[in-house]
Amino acid sequence: MNAPTVSRIRPDDLPAAIALMRDTVRRVNARDYSWEQVTTWAPDEVDPARWATLLAPSRFAVVAESDGVLVGFADLEPDGHLDRFYVHADRQRSGVGRALLAALLAEAARLALPRVFSEVSITARPFFERQGFSVLAEQQVVVRGVAFTNYRMERRPEPAGEARRAAGFR
Ligand SMILES: CC(C)(COP(=O)(O)OP(=O)(O)OC[C@H]1O[C@@H](n2cnc3c(N)ncnc32)[C@H](O)[C@@H]1OP(=O)(O)O)[C@@H](O)C(=O)NCCC(=O)NCCS
Repeated sequence: MNAPTVSRIRPDDLPAAIALMRDTVRRVNARDYSWEQVTTWAPDEVDPARWATLLAPSRFAVVAESDGVLVGFADLEPDGHLDRFYVHADRQRSGVGRALLAALLAEAARLALPRVFSEVSITARPFFERQGFSVLAEQQVVVRGVAFTNYRMERRPEPAGEARRAAGFR
């Protein structure tokens, strides 16, 4: 399998991104969360308006593709918040997450943001720790009546040039 290429999301990517999210949550996050939790997080029917926000010009949303297949996506909000971050269940631990994060950090550095931060799943915590994020707090969040444990994590962005090169961003 070839290394992923990372580029800005296009409207045509949305259906594949939603399907990838549902599959990854149900197959990968299911290691750490109950079936009730994963089907609340990744229901059969998602809110199309919420997902269309990925395309908002104020957001920096990227997809990773390998051999023409969408293998991950992630987005950065203007205040440094990392909102969504998912890698295909069949492409875990193959560098896709690292490539996505490098692109987001490069953009954060370009915007001179002082920090990037997120609410990170139990599953993703080791990845973010290895990528230089620190845990600020463990928290319980309630989504559609179901409680989840996650972690508020943050780090500073890298200098822009370095992170963009690491991202292989086009
Ligand atoms: C978290 C996630 C995005 C990481 O993506 P990934 O493509 O698997 O990560 P990478 O292959 O780029 O990993 C880079 C490095 O991070 C570390 N890492 C990644 N996953 C890890 C894990 N589960 N345990 C320990 N270290 C991990 C490793 O050091 C890894 O390098 P290595 O494989 O050479 O040792 C992915 O596991 C995922 O989609 N998880 C489910 C969705 C999710 O929880 N998203 C976050 C929502 S808050």
